[in-house]
Amino acid sequence: MALEELYREVILDHYRNPRNQGHIDAPDATAQGVNPLCGDEITIDLSIEDGVVTGVAVEGQGCSISQSSASMMTEAIKGKSREEIDELVSKFRRMMSIEAGDDPGLDSERPGSVLGDIEALQGVRQYPVRIKCANLAWTTLMEALGS
Ligand code: FES
Repeated sequence: MALEELYREVILDHYRNPRNQGHIDAPDATAQGVNPLCGDEITIDLSIEDGVVTGVAVEGQGCSISQSSASMMTEAIKGKSREEIDELVSKFRRMMSIEAGDDPGLDSERPGSVLGDIEALQGVRQYPVRIKCANLAWTTLMEALGS
């Protein structure tokens, strides 16, 4: 299977079977994000214990990219500390901001072990208008964490 096709499958799987959907009762942190270009929105609830994200729930509506990115994000941050999440977010941003076709420079850092499914979103770089879709969940996450 070509890499692009594999990425498409991963994105569709998260879109069709979104992980960690819903709300958390009495969350420790929450934020709502909106993509002003289309009005799509997402709400993220977090449970945080001793600086570690122990629970995450997402509710929203939007395109396949925004919703699958949110699903991937929930899987990636659960059980992670604030520092680990900051590192993840910066790797995600770096991956999304480089020019399409360029080497993201993540290989040497074994991105598979850090970004996992999230790597599938790098194909989105070819469609600048969709980058905002992929970023929505991550921007909202950082807002929930107060940065
Ligand atoms: Fe609305 Fe993608 S088109 S977030």
